[in-house]
Amino acid sequence: MNPDVPRPPGTLVIFGGWFFSRVVAETAELLGWTIAGFVDPDPPGWVTPLRHVPDESFAIVAIGNNPQRAFVHGKVLERGRRVVSIIHPTASVSQSAVLEKGCYLAEYVTVRSAAVVGSGTILNSGSVVSHDCQIGPFVTFGPNAATSGHVSIGARTTLGVGACVRPHAKIGCDCEVGAGAAVACDIRDGSTVVGVPARAIPKRSAKQDKQSDWSANPIW
Ligand SMILES: CC(C)(COP(=O)(O)OP(=O)(O)OC[C@H]1O[C@@H](n2cnc3c(N)ncnc32)[C@H](O)[C@@H]1OP(=O)(O)O)[C@@H](O)C(=O)NCCC(=O)NCCS
Repeated sequence: MNPDVPRPPGTLVIFGGWFFSRVVAETAELLGWTIAGFVDPDPPGWVTPLRHVPDESFAIVAIGNNPQRAFVHGKVLERGRRVVSIIHPTASVSQSAVLEKGCYLAEYVTVRSAAVVGSGTILNSGSVVSHDCQIGPFVTFGPNAATSGHVSIGARTTLGVGACVRPHAKIGCDCEVGAGAAVACDIRDGSTVVGVPARAIPKRSAKQDKQSDWSANPIW
């Protein structure tokens, strides 16, 4: 287990104010954290962003977009903030697994023995990281996505909802594995793959949900 995760309750600041941040806030509250508020340079109407981050607080970055989460996570660490992981009480994490800082584990996630999960990775509800897997930083597993044993996944890759990965497969960095895909061979950096078995499709211009522009955020 991650020794850096302090015992709640404490005060938590959430970087990111959009939909995913609500999910993280609900889990954190369930664990007993007091949510100080949300930092977001361009929040939705229902969020009043924090103007000041309390010095004694802990932090997590709750931004769904992988590269953006990596950027903000780096800034928050540079500022010297204490970044924690938020792990739903129904998640099961092997004692021999390693979770790096700032991960979010949702309901019924399983992380099995000797797996390593990189910092800022999101494991959505029901997803499985099987034994001896190496999951890079700022990866996202959609709901019910699952690896079998000895899989490696590079930084900032997304496994779509319900995707699955054969034992020992290697998926590169910045890949998108489509919803419901079955990865049966190695996948190169930057690829988008779909289907059963998963095959590469051309990269399209990214259709993204609304994103905040963090480049000039004054509050870290
Ligand atoms: C794979 C994915 C990233 C591709 O998105 P995209 O680049 O915008 O691609 P498009 O939607 O334009 O689809 C391109 C083609 O691939 C097909 N395709 C897209 N996703 C597919 C999927 N999951 N399975 C099978 N085929 C798929 C489309 O039908 C389309 O086929 P066509 O060219 O014959 O019309 C996206 O469809 C997807 O599955 N994302 C998963 C998101 C997710 O689950 N995230 C979890 C967050 S919690």
